[in-house]
Amino acid sequence: MALLWTFIVEFATLSSLTGDPVFEDVARAALMRLWESRSDIGLVGNHIDVLTGKWVAQDAGIGAGVDSYFEYLVKGAILLQDKKLMAMFLEYNKAIRNYTRFDDWYLWVQMYKGTVSMPVFQSLEAYWPGLQSLIGDIDNAMRTFLNYYTVWKQFGGLPEFYNIPQGYTVEKREGYPLRPELIESAMYLYRATGDPTLLELGRDAVESIEKISKVECGFATIKDLRDHKLDNRMESFFLAETVKYLYLLFDPDNFIHNNGSTFDAVITPYGECILGAGGYIFNTEAHPIDPAALHCCRRLKEEQWEVEDLMREFYSLKRNRSRFQKTTMSSGPWEPPAGPGTFSSPENHDETREKKPAKQKIPLLSCPSQPFTSKLALLGQVFLDSS
Ligand SMILES: *[C@@H]1O[C@H](CO)[C@@H](O)[C@H](O)[C@H]1NC(C)=O
Ligand SMILES: *[C@@H]1O[C@H](CO)[C@@H](O)[C@H](O)[C@H]1NC(C)=O
Ligand SMILES: *[C@@H]1O[C@H](CO)[C@@H](O)[C@H](O)[C@H]1NC(C)=O
Repeated sequence: MALLWTFIVEFATLSSLTGDPVFEDVARAALMRLWESRSDIGLVGNHIDVLTGKWVAQDAGIGAGVDSYFEYLVKGAILLQDKKLMAMFLEYNKAIRNYTRFDDWYLWVQMYKGTVSMPVFQSLEAYWPGLQSLIGDIDNAMRTFLNYYTVWKQFGGLPEFYNIPQGYTVEKREGYPLRPELIESAMYLYRATGDPTLLELGRDAVESIEKISKVECGFATIKDLRDHKLDNRMESFFLAETVKYLYLLFDPDNFIHNNGSTFDAVITPYGECILGAGGYIFNTEAHPIDPAALHCCRRLKEEQWEVEDLMREFYSLKRNRSRFQKTTMSSGPWEPPAGPGTFSSPENHDETREKKPAKQKIPLLSCPSQPFTSKLALLGQVFLDSS
C-alpha cells in the first residue's frame, strides 16, 4: 500500500524529464484520493483497500503504512515548489500533533475517534524529526529526536517496535535491521543546529554497527537487540541509506550540503541552466535529486519536444537514405555535425558529411553527437564533462 502514494517525487521527475505529464498526474491523483479519505478529525489510517476506498486498518500514526506518504508530501512540496502539497501536510501535521503526540512521543490512535490504540514507537517513525526540520520546526524535532535517542542508548540500536509506557521492546519486534531513519534525522538536524549530540548518535551508530553486526561478508540484520543475535541477511537500505546518511552526517564539506554558495552555470541551446546549487531532495531510498536541474529540464520541455521531433525526422531520413544509397551510406556511420545547432537540420548534416567522407570512425550505434550542452537539455543529464 505505501507504494501507491510514494510516487510523487519519482513520477514528477520522470514527467519533467520526458515532458509527458501522465506520470505526475497519476501520482497526484493518488495523493488526492488519500487526502479525500481522511477522517473528520483529519487523520488517515495505515491501510486502505484501493478498490473500495475503505480503510481496513484504522490506526493513525506516523509510521508503517503512512511514513512515505507524509515524507513525500513535504519533499514533493519542496522539490516541485508546490504550495498545495505543503498545505496538505500542514493540515495533517496539526491533527497528528493534536491527537497522537504525547510528551514529544507519537503514538497510534483510532483515526475516527482519536483514542490511543497502540502506545508504540516504531523504528520507521524515526524519520519524523528530520521531516520536521525540513519544515523548519527545529525545536519540536530536537525534542522528539532526543526521546528516540534514549531508546537507541537503551539497546544500542532501535528495536522495530518499542512500547513507550513499558519502556521496552514488543514481542516479535525486537530486531534492528540497521535502518537509516534515526541517522537520517540526525543528519538533517545537524545541518540545522550543529548540536554535537547529533554527532554522538552517529558515533554510537558506527560503533554498534561495527561491534554487533559486522560479519565476514557484510553487516547483518540484528535479529534481537536484547541478546544481539544476528539474522542471515543484509537489507538493501543499509548501503543505500544508512551508510550514506552516516557519511553525510560526518562530512560537512560534501557537495550534497551545498548551501547555494557555489554552482555550475551550463549554457544550453535554450539558455542558461544552474546545476549543483544544493537543496538536493533525497527520495525515500536516499537517491538525491537536484531541484535546479529538474526545474531547468522542466522549463525546456516544449523546446525539447521540438528538438526530439527534428531528431526523429533526421534519423528516419538517414535510414531511408542508407536503404537507397547503399554505396555511399553503408560504408560507415554518419559524421557528427560540426557544432551547436547543426544537428537539428538534416540538410546541414548531409553537407557536413559529404565534405568529409573519409573520416568515419564512430561506431554505428554511437549516441548522436550533439554538443554536450545540448545533450544536457535533451536527456536531462546533470553532470558536466571536464571541458
Ligand atoms: C484538537 O482536539 C480537540 C479534541 O481533543 C478538538 O476539539 C480540536 O478541534 C482539535 N484541533 C485540531 C486543530 O485538530
Ligand atoms: C555557505 O557555505 C559556504 C562554504 O561552505 C560558507 O563559507 C558560507 O558561510 C555558507 N553560507 C551560509 C549562509 O550558510
Ligand atoms: C522513410 O521511409 C518510410 C517508409 O519506408 C516513410 O514512411 C518515411 O516518410 C520516410 N521518411 C522520410 C523522411 O522520407
